[in-house]
Amino acid sequence: MAIVTSTEMFKKAYEGGYAIGAFNVNNMEIIQGITEAAMEERSPLILQVSSGARKYAKHVYLMKLIEAAIEDAEQSAGFDLPICIHLDHGDTFELCKSCIDGGFTSVMIDGSSKSFEDNIALTRKVVEYAHDHGVVVEGELGTLAGVEDDVNVSFEDSSYPRPEEVEEFVSKTGVDSLAIAIGTSHGAYKFTADQCTRNEEGLLVPPPLRFDILEEIARRLPGFPIVLHGSSSVPQEFVKIINEFGGKMPDAVGIPESQLRQAAQGAVCKINIDSDLRLAMTASIRRHFGQHPDHFDPRQYLKPGRESIKAMVRHKLVNVLGCAGKA
Ligand code: G3H
Ligand code: 13P
Ligand code: ZN
Repeated sequence: MAIVTSTEMFKKAYEGGYAIGAFNVNNMEIIQGITEAAMEERSPLILQVSSGARKYAKHVYLMKLIEAAIEDAEQSAGFDLPICIHLDHGDTFELCKSCIDGGFTSVMIDGSSKSFEDNIALTRKVVEYAHDHGVVVEGELGTLAGVEDDVNVSFEDSSYPRPEEVEEFVSKTGVDSLAIAIGTSHGAYKFTADQCTRNEEGLLVPPPLRFDILEEIARRLPGFPIVLHGSSSVPQEFVKIINEFGGKMPDAVGIPESQLRQAAQGAVCKINIDSDLRLAMTASIRRHFGQHPDHFDPRQYLKPGRESIKAMVRHKLVNVLGCAGKA
């Protein structure tokens, strides 16, 4: 029962005014940090795997590690931890098929760089195969700015989806959820200093998300789950530690948590977080090496790295997503 699709999760999240956290996983420590947080907070969870993660760790390792996390939750806490295993930013039918055949319960087909018609055709093809196999599909409309392994979009080339297009896309493809661009972006540098204002402490304050677009989509498609990508908040305490211990991340800035909380109370049922995991782990490891230059056993620095991820994820589940206690 513990490996599930997101269907039930999204239904409850929509009705309950909260969102499910979708966290990117790449290795054992990241999986353990996230799943231990979800277990302790009795929270439903989406673990997502990018094509880069599959290349780095291999599909089979990630599957087995997630299965181990579920078994561990059952044995150590008697808790049936519900996890949806999701392909993040699938860009071809073949990649989606391989993940469906390999046991994922959800896939994203990201046709957002294609024409509207081509995006519909590709997404429809993935939906047909996925639904035949009991797997759900996330599509994408509009283009987020930012950089990932396989996607690199400048701010000038980013665009918001038109609500009438969203309605047409959902009805023609049969997708189960849809990622839309409303002002979030991938990575740890979501906005340039020019796009932001500064608060009294001199910290960058980004422009607000386009809640007007989100509300219009919710009006046209009541109950339909919307997904927000690029939703790390880039906690400044991590950036500060990284910079203090030899790193160089000037003016890294994310989406304010209050905006994510507001989105989660509306039609947004899935919030994607990767950069904050990277920052939590890197800050912890940099500080560890700064304070213990003689250490060379990976367990000495990966253990606090894992703890840092766990604490960060617990905070998100309770204070940002609102999904603690909902499993
Ligand atoms: O949105 C993309 C995620 O942050 C995954 O990044 O492609 O470097 O694994 P990645
Ligand atoms: P962040 O870079 O903001 O963590 O976004 C991750 C994401 O959208 C994965 O698909
Ligand atoms: Zn994304």
